[in-house]
Amino acid sequence: MITPPQQRMLSLRAIQAAPSPTLAITAKANALKAQGKDVISFGAGEPDFDTPQNVKDAAVTALAKGDTKYTPSSGTVALKDAIIAKLKRDNGLTYGRTEIIVSCGAKHSIYNLMQAMLDPGDEVIVPSPYWVSYPEQVKLADGVPVIVPATEASGFLTSAAEIEAHITSKTKLVVINSPSNPTGAVYTPQVLRDISDLCVGRGIYLMSDEIYEKVLYTGAEFVSPASFSEAAKKLTITINGFSKAHSMTGWRLGYAAADLDIVAAMSKIQDQSTSNPTSIAQAGGVEALNGPQDSVETMRRAFQERRDVIVPALNDIPGVHCLNPDGAFYVFPNVSALYGKSWTPSGDAPRTIGGSDDFAAYLLEKYEVAVIPGSGFGADGNIRLSYATSMENIKRGVARIAEAVQALA
Ligand SMILES: Cc1ncc(COP(=O)(O)O)c(C=O)c1O
Repeated sequence: MITPPQQRMLSLRAIQAAPSPTLAITAKANALKAQGKDVISFGAGEPDFDTPQNVKDAAVTALAKGDTKYTPSSGTVALKDAIIAKLKRDNGLTYGRTEIIVSCGAKHSIYNLMQAMLDPGDEVIVPSPYWVSYPEQVKLADGVPVIVPATEASGFLTSAAEIEAHITSKTKLVVINSPSNPTGAVYTPQVLRDISDLCVGRGIYLMSDEIYEKVLYTGAEFVSPASFSEAAKKLTITINGFSKAHSMTGWRLGYAAADLDIVAAMSKIQDQSTSNPTSIAQAGGVEALNGPQDSVETMRRAFQERRDVIVPALNDIPGVHCLNPDGAFYVFPNVSALYGKSWTPSGDAPRTIGGSDDFAAYLLEKYEVAVIPGSGFGADGNIRLSYATSMENIKRGVARIAEAVQALA
């Protein structure tokens, strides 16, 4: 006879963590593709361009010359110096090597930060719609995400006043992501300054996720909150990475710049978990920052052309309303006018569309179009489409969505 386990097998932490809806839909779309279906995917949040050749060459050279051993856990000196130079050049920020940590993706940097900063019950203010991982990473560190809803009417942007209304004695950190995933919204320098001033005035830390810094369209200006003042710099943790600007999603390389005590604590956590990011990926990262930047601009321009096609095409569909984003490569149309309508799968009972999960399932199952439901981003009235895909896919995919909407009863 087998003795039953005395304890529950899984931790509450693991049980309560929500799976990433983006990864789940992408996996489902890929499985359908593998069955030979002509799936058009607006799912994955990654550029459809190859990594620039000079970056690949740098990694190949590193591999050939034997850079295949452990590196310092928080990153190589060469990459830290390239990051320091980038922060100076692009953001007007001055950091030393002990104030930089390189991790296995920006996601990993944020994870390290939450683990390094949060005690049980500490509150983290997260404006919604938010990137799916922020609340989950807060919870994985036993913190409490406090959601500040930003409405479509305000362009999916919150304000210092709205954030202030959610501050309590337990508030430790405010999370800002501009340009935003999933909305593409970009904060003005003034609003960022107001939020930064609020954090400085109240002694609250500010995490600025700047991963879409380079994907900005007409007129939008990028500014790092850490650059506002010495006091702001002390309280700001700047997150950035290589995935989006340099099309290096699979390389898993990102970084944080912050006060040296915060970086030291993050490094301790990284030391005891993953150790260093892959050595040859770091060599590629050095070239991505120090080498020519023309591919960054080529990709940005292509994204802008696609945005200018997808937004009007979506707005032409009755019941769909889509804001024109200023950055990133996502649109976040409101489709809530379609909720309550129904469709009938072949040989099955009619199904009513009750929310974004149902609508995304309908599009995938019946029209072979993958979109991400807004529910995972804290906005069930919306769906997210990544337009980091070819113009042909955009046109065919939106035509299918139009057909799907028209077929609803
Ligand atoms: C807002 C935001 N932050 C961070 C990340 C993580 O990027 P990385 O690939 O560097 O982990 C993503 C990726 O989708 C993102 O959208």
